[in-house]
Amino acid sequence: MLKIWNKFSLRARLSLLYVGLLTLSICVVGIHSYWNVWHLLFYNTANHLRAQAKPVIEHWLYSKSDQGKVLPSVSESFSLAKIAKPLAYDLTSRNTVAIILDKNGKILATGKRLPEEPLPPSPNSYYYSRALAGENEVNYQTVVNNEPTLVLLIPLRATPVSRKILGVAQISTSLSPISQILFKHGMMLILVAAITLMAGGGLGFILISSALKNLRKMVNICQDISKGDLSQRVNFSYYHDEIGMLAGAFNNMVARIEAIFESQRRFVANAAHELRTPLTALQGSLEVLLRGSQDDPSAVAKLSRGMYQEVTRLIRLCEQLLGLSRLDSSSNIQKKLLNLNEFFDDFIQQAKLLALDRNVVLKKGPFVYVKADANILSQILFNLIYNAVQHTEEGGNIILGWRLVPDEVEIWVSDDGEGIAPEDIPHIFEPFYQGKSSDRKGNKGAGLGLSLVKAMVEAHSGYVEAKSQLGKGTTIKFNLPLT
Ligand SMILES: Nc1ncnc2c1ncn2[C@@H]1O[C@H](COP(=O)(O)OP(=O)(O)OP(=O)(O)O)[C@@H](O)[C@H]1O
Ligand SMILES: [Mg+2]
Repeated sequence: MLKIWNKFSLRARLSLLYVGLLTLSICVVGIHSYWNVWHLLFYNTANHLRAQAKPVIEHWLYSKSDQGKVLPSVSESFSLAKIAKPLAYDLTSRNTVAIILDKNGKILATGKRLPEEPLPPSPNSYYYSRALAGENEVNYQTVVNNEPTLVLLIPLRATPVSRKILGVAQISTSLSPISQILFKHGMMLILVAAITLMAGGGLGFILISSALKNLRKMVNICQDISKGDLSQRVNFSYYHDEIGMLAGAFNNMVARIEAIFESQRRFVANAAHELRTPLTALQGSLEVLLRGSQDDPSAVAKLSRGMYQEVTRLIRLCEQLLGLSRLDSSSNIQKKLLNLNEFFDDFIQQAKLLALDRNVVLKKGPFVYVKADANILSQILFNLIYNAVQHTEEGGNIILGWRLVPDEVEIWVSDDGEGIAPEDIPHIFEPFYQGKSSDRKGNKGAGLGLSLVKAMVEAHSGYVEAKSQLGKGTTIKFNLPLT
């Protein structure tokens, strides 16, 4: 069943579901309204007949005192058979016919005298016995001569409040007028239901079709994008509904993917360029050697030193690239609870070695634990200290430390070196970006150090920022969330 249902298009399924639900609700409302009208008319007629019959029955069964009190007229000589005929006549009219039954269900009298008066239905023993048992409100519907007929049974009591029942008066009337009213009411309901169904169904179909048409457009655009045209966008700015929101989210997603592709392309181009520079230098040195410089030991030594520097640079570049790619997978990060005091006590020794003849000072913060990968934290700090060393004169100061801020721990490395130009600051965390001060002492890097720092800090759910003043120094600080 579900398989067949799923074979239909979404538009067909939604339309079917919509029309089905609309039909169901119209049917429920229609049937409920029809039933209420029928109920009202049926019981109104029954109550009306009972009200008419009551004084007639009281007249024939009981007498009234001078004060207007109803007195039982049941004397020893009273017999229902005697008054049955006039009672039946009085209860009968042009539309109504009455019969009087005794305790055994025998017909004592029939009120029908004229041919235009309706035929009485033959007594139904089930309802008759209920009335004989004292039930006052026995009404039912039957068919006489193909006409729907309402039958009501009135128990005839010895006194108005007595439990003794002498017989039953059966009054019946045709329900044809009510049926006609109900028929007209039913027709009206069907007409209204048909118009509502057609208008509602048509409108629903148009709405569903227009919503799905836009989805179809998006499918086509997706196909274009999957073929490589990332410049495509969905233009549904005039829709402020869910479709418009979906289109907006879709456009944002495609823009983001396009930006990622573009930055990847730039990254690969930059990486190739950075790799080519030392390789070209190596090629040049090797060509000079091959051309016969090996006979000159001083030239060989100079060339070898140059080649060694280029190879070192190549290895560092490859390590940085590998470091960046490793950070893409969270399985390469092993976070553990780290006591920052102990960590910095170990780290400061290595930092001093790296800093050569700069002064390295550790400003300890409060005792605190952070959840971090100790190796990665060391790499972040090495990169920052390496940069500080590169941009600080001999004898300069490098200060590192940590402090607590709300919910985070802030770790910083600052120096009193040459500083970063204000126009460089927004870009220094981009891969391969190198500031104006980058070409220091011939020890040229690739511009990957800070982008690695940023990626490593973000892998720890933290963030990094730089503050610098030209000629005064630089502070790079990063915040990690506290556990
Ligand atoms: N402490 C600092 N003082 C002054 N300038 C800095 C400092 N740290 C970074 N910079 C500037 O930011 C730029 C980017 O730094 P980053 O570490 O990413 O690259 P790099 O040091 O040039 O190369 P790599 O780190 O790949 O060897 C540098 O080129 C430099 O201009
Ligand atoms: Mg660097």
